[in-house]
Amino acid sequence: MSSKFIKIDKKINYFNKIIKVDGDKSLSIRWALLASQAIGNSKAFNLLKSEDTINTLKCLKKLGIKIKLSKKFCQIEGRGINGFLFKKNLILNSGNSGTLGRLLLPLLIKSPYKIKIVGDKSLSKRDFSRVIKPLKNMGVNFYPQNKKNLPIFIKGSKYLRPIKYIENRGSAQCKSCVMLAALNIPGETSITAKKSRNHTELLFKNLKIPMKIIKKKKYDFIKIIKPKSINSFNLKIPGDISSSAFFIVLTLLTKNSKLLIKNININPSRLGVIKILNKMGAKIKLFNIKKINNEKCADIFVKSVKNLKGINCPSNLNSSAIDEFLIIFLVAAKAKGISYFKNLSELNQKESPRLKIGSKILNMIGVKVISNKNSIKIYGNPNLKLNKNYVIKNFLKDHRVFMMSVISALSLGGTWKIYNPESVKTSFPSFLKIISKLGAKIN
Ligand code: S3P
Repeated sequence: MSSKFIKIDKKINYFNKIIKVDGDKSLSIRWALLASQAIGNSKAFNLLKSEDTINTLKCLKKLGIKIKLSKKFCQIEGRGINGFLFKKNLILNSGNSGTLGRLLLPLLIKSPYKIKIVGDKSLSKRDFSRVIKPLKNMGVNFYPQNKKNLPIFIKGSKYLRPIKYIENRGSAQCKSCVMLAALNIPGETSITAKKSRNHTELLFKNLKIPMKIIKKKKYDFIKIIKPKSINSFNLKIPGDISSSAFFIVLTLLTKNSKLLIKNININPSRLGVIKILNKMGAKIKLFNIKKINNEKCADIFVKSVKNLKGINCPSNLNSSAIDEFLIIFLVAAKAKGISYFKNLSELNQKESPRLKIGSKILNMIGVKVISNKNSIKIYGNPNLKLNKNYVIKNFLKDHRVFMMSVISALSLGGTWKIYNPESVKTSFPSFLKIISKLGAKIN
């Protein structure tokens, strides 16, 4: 186990800056996977160059896809739907990425050979039965039978059938898995999906894949007919709102500070963090709103706020803020009054059990918390100031636990030893560079 750590023993001074964050992870992985199924050369600009996307490219290369990665763009030479060069004894490594693991499987459902899918320690603990079940219903084979997590073997079938799938968790990964499988399934696949991020739908629309969507308040009804082929396509990838969230909160909690974050994807299905923080008293504003490849983008402006207040967070915002709750909990700890977040059991299914770890960290810094498997009540304290020693270790190298801890240290004080700084490489390699740019001192 790596024993690397960083030390922070000084709060950050006020700042007034303009920053950019790395490209959106969900879009980067989806572009690469879909480009591999298109015919000919597709290019992505501002692709996130993190371990999760690099692992995506490595898996595609092993499947016979040619890829050029330069400073300016990434080019993928797609081989068409089901054009992979399947070989015997293939092992594909998803590393830390649930999105890669769960979105790659549906592209392998015609493999004539068994393919082994592996992941790191964190990913190997996570539930894959949620995607194995619908794929099995389509006729795909998995070995060992009834295994729910990685490593696992997948073997395709010649006799795949369309299914009617109900997605009840609000999981975009499950929905997208079935959508991608539909590219290989004869006839019409239908999905009833609880609301979740809709990047796959928007990309399908760009690619003119035959699809109908009926949107209702809580669910979307999606029907997809297998396309004959997909044309190659280029994508400009905006910055990731999940990465921006850490800097939004650092600014909110640092006196007299202002921050402009340029060109961020503000897809409404990802905007929960802004809605929740604004309900808590933040005044986050969006400027320069435009659409690029059907995805809404904007510059985000945020300044520090004195009077943050607690929130009884409506559960219908959960899916649109699912990766931001750790950092939202930190704001709740500094807000006046009690905050309540419910129906959040999915948070324990992430890179680490985040509901559990989030409440542990708040507890450690002296914030009263009542939590169970599904919800958390945070008793906020606007006068929260820290002056003790804090160690953050053994969190399954969850990148978002690391980043939340750094923001806690820089905004609340105390002396912090935070392990596994390399964890940020999975989603946000520039994180510590930007932290330094804002003036923070880190050893
Ligand atoms: C993602 C969906 C979410 C999110 C993950 C990325 C995606 O997971 O937590 O970081 O790109 O589809 P779930 O779909 O499992 O909620």
